[in-house]
Amino acid sequence: GKLRMTFRWMWRLTYLSFGGLAGYTFYIIYQDRHPEPQYEPDPSKKTLVVLGTGWASVALLKKLDTENYNVIVVSPRNYFLFTPLLPSCTTGTVEHRSIMEPIRAILRHKKAAVKFYEAEASSIDPDRKVLKIVDNSEVKGATSETEIPYDMLVIGVGAENATFGIPGVREHSCFLKEIGDAQRIRKKIMDCVETAAFKGQTSEEIDRLMHMVVVGGGPTGVEFAGELQDFFEEDIKKLVPEISPRFKVTLIEALPNVLPSFSKQLIDYTENTLREEKIDIKTKTMVKNVTNETVEAEVAHPDGTKERVIIPYGLLVWATGNAVRPIVKDLMSKITAQKDSRRGLAVNEYLVVQGARDIWAIGDCAVAGYAPTAQVASQEGSFLGRLFNNMAKTENHEARIQELSSKMNLEAGNSAEVAQEIEALERKLRKVKDIKPFRYSHQGSLAYIGSEKAVADVSWWNGNLATGGSLTYLFWRSAYLSMCFSTRNRVLVILDWLKSKAFGRDVSRE
Ligand code: FAD
Ligand code: NAI
Repeated sequence: GKLRMTFRWMWRLTYLSFGGLAGYTFYIIYQDRHPEPQYEPDPSKKTLVVLGTGWASVALLKKLDTENYNVIVVSPRNYFLFTPLLPSCTTGTVEHRSIMEPIRAILRHKKAAVKFYEAEASSIDPDRKVLKIVDNSEVKGATSETEIPYDMLVIGVGAENATFGIPGVREHSCFLKEIGDAQRIRKKIMDCVETAAFKGQTSEEIDRLMHMVVVGGGPTGVEFAGELQDFFEEDIKKLVPEISPRFKVTLIEALPNVLPSFSKQLIDYTENTLREEKIDIKTKTMVKNVTNETVEAEVAHPDGTKERVIIPYGLLVWATGNAVRPIVKDLMSKITAQKDSRRGLAVNEYLVVQGARDIWAIGDCAVAGYAPTAQVASQEGSFLGRLFNNMAKTENHEARIQELSSKMNLEAGNSAEVAQEIEALERKLRKVKDIKPFRYSHQGSLAYIGSEKAVADVSWWNGNLATGGSLTYLFWRSAYLSMCFSTRNRVLVILDWLKSKAFGRDVSRE
């Protein structure tokens, strides 16, 4: 009897918690679809222009009280992209739209309306405080180029792909930075497989076409290689068994090991796991030239000799890190204080671009002494959002104090009351003015390495925890899920994971 009662209660509790969770999800979805009416910004306020809709700029926009400024966002991409799951899009484990969030939907939830222009900023004039913007999209109207004056400018344009000027890279390889890159890779993997399966294909050609080469052993290269091998093991092998033994993934890295930013223990674990997955790791191998079918690389042998090797490939993915965007380079050339900076806009501890007036830089395009990661970018964006909110509050308080002081002079009768209000405002002012400089708080590094395993270097209490394996993989999945931008993204990603597990990845070539 007692056991049955306990069971009944447990059952009811489970029921209730599921009901609660479902109710909460529906409430969030409802709120998302029915935002409150927005009011128009006040034209007397300062114009704040934000460039980019990536991790840094979107974190800033999320924190910013838009009613304090006339906010204008300019970006060639009208959505935010959740980059950590981009490698999963290349094989269809996750569909691309599940990790995109329209910027207009994000901005619609702000109290005061924000203007968005889908355009690229092509140059900045820091003296006149204006920037030029160009619509580079397919559809163009009569006006596709114009200028925007700003009072305050935030640059969050990210970085572009580094090629180090190596010949052939831009023409022949795929990058992995944007949604279009992931779609291109997905299409090309299946094109290589189908062409290799073509009637009468020569043996040499099958080997080349089925050889997938990844250059760069940073987290992007490692995660992509892992996803690719999963795709092969779980799907391609079953669907195209006749040529599957010829499928091969090679990861090329110039340094002595992959994932240089992780701890030694995790580097070893990753390299061993990748080898177990039959990924060929070629370290101390630097790619020097790329043609449409081969990669030429220089291998450094332990005895100090160097050897030139030629590696035929079907698909080549280039993931060798970041380079500075032209718009940033152009601005740096106009500011004397930036002449020694190489990797982006040098900023001070309040993220102000050094040597410039009213310009801030955040994320991958800023050099603040941290790694170019989403974690750093979003913390910088949130910091700047808070800073701008405080600056607006300071101005409001100062204006009110000014107003009250003159009132006190004119109407002597109320002076005690007014003096009290001034004192209270001054207290508030001291508080908002006391802004600490930006400090990055590292939450840890996570990377997926294939075959349902991940590695994590995370801060734990006051120490560090380095773990790898299947449990870490579950942690990786839940951490990324919780970091997704919206409930919509979260639901879509879960459905994609379930879908690819249950039915296999979709191998149709769009
Ligand atoms: P971005 O997010 O790149 O955004 C830049 C924005 O500026 C874009 O909207 C772009 O369209 C826009 N823009 C470009 N040019 C112009 C212009 N001329 N005018 C106006 N707008 C412009 N980091 C992690 O911490 N964890 C991870 O797991 C992780 N995984 C990653 C996986 C992949 C495949 C990649 C490529 C990166 C990953 N990163 C990860 C790194 C992370 O994505 C970047 O550090 C982060 O995106 C930087 O944010 P950002 O806002 O500076 O730039
Ligand atoms: P990266 O800069 O981290 O790694 C690029 C690698 O390419 C380097 O190890 C470099 O030695 C190698 N390389 C350069 N030129 C080469 C050549 N010619 N031949 C062979 N190898 C060459 O770049 P990545 O992986 O694109 O990452 C960029 C940023 O994004 C990093 O800050 C990274 O931490 C972050 N990121 C984080 C992820 C995560 O936390 N899971 C996932 C992806 C990126």
